[in-house]
Amino acid sequence: MNRLSSAVRKIDVRVSRRLAAVGLAAALVSGIVTAQAAEGDPNRGGRHFKACLACHSIAPGEHMTGPSLAGVWQRQAGTAQKFSRYSEALKRSGAVWNETTLDAWLRDPAAFAPGNFMKIPGIADAGARSDVIAYLKVISEGSARSPKPASQRSALAAFPDLRKAGPAASVAAIRHCRDTYWVTTASGEVIPYWEFNLRFKTDSSARGPARGKPVMVGAASMGDRAQVVFSDPAEISTFIRRSC
Ligand code: HEC
Repeated sequence: MNRLSSAVRKIDVRVSRRLAAVGLAAALVSGIVTAQAAEGDPNRGGRHFKACLACHSIAPGEHMTGPSLAGVWQRQAGTAQKFSRYSEALKRSGAVWNETTLDAWLRDPAAFAPGNFMKIPGIADAGARSDVIAYLKVISEGSARSPKPASQRSALAAFPDLRKAGPAASVAAIRHCRDTYWVTTASGEVIPYWEFNLRFKTDSSARGPARGKPVMVGAASMGDRAQVVFSDPAEISTFIRRSC
């Protein structure tokens, strides 16, 4: 009886050791699995994404400095329709955007595709990266889970619609004399700018000015500098009259 009970105890000990080992292994495995599947938080990712909004919209087809990131998930790198500023470096990377490729790209864009045009240092924090990646996945799915309110989907909406510029911003004439541009607005104001402080830009999009109707934007608080936006570069030199 004694021998039997001690034998049983031995078996018990062995079994429980094995169980313990199995338990440990299970814990390790589940630990590894959780680490691998550690999904980022799309809501936090949406907040991190503010750093990207200067260059990226998540509205479909809305391209800025960078391509729209709508539908970026599982898309081949460098293939957003109608985005005309991709680098050869990114196009040649052959990457398809998923957790792994996005993690490498966002950690160090210059290392991922040397010579690419996304000139940001990258996101060093792995947690922040996985949050942003989770966000990109959610907005690509276009699901109701999208954490971003509809009003913020268009980053371009923050820019003025130049077609709707009022007379104070519409430019009727520009005269250049020595080192000065004299800008006449449609409301009749005549404003001098030191030639180095007036910039000329074009916006050929549907939000840009109408042909021959340039618009003044971004007149700074000091009033010493501004930008005149034309619909087409060919208009610039014909519009500006040289006269003193
Ligand atoms: C200063 C502007 C700028 C900022 C800020 C920026 N990007 Fe970009 N991004 C670009 C440009 C430009 C490209 C195209 C690069 C190329 O073709 O070499 C690009 C490309 C991408 C692509 C590849 C898209 C495709 O169609 O293949 C992804 C994904 C991306 N950016 C994500 C991000 C995220 C996420 C952030 C914020 C953490 C961010 N970017 C911040 C300018 C920017």
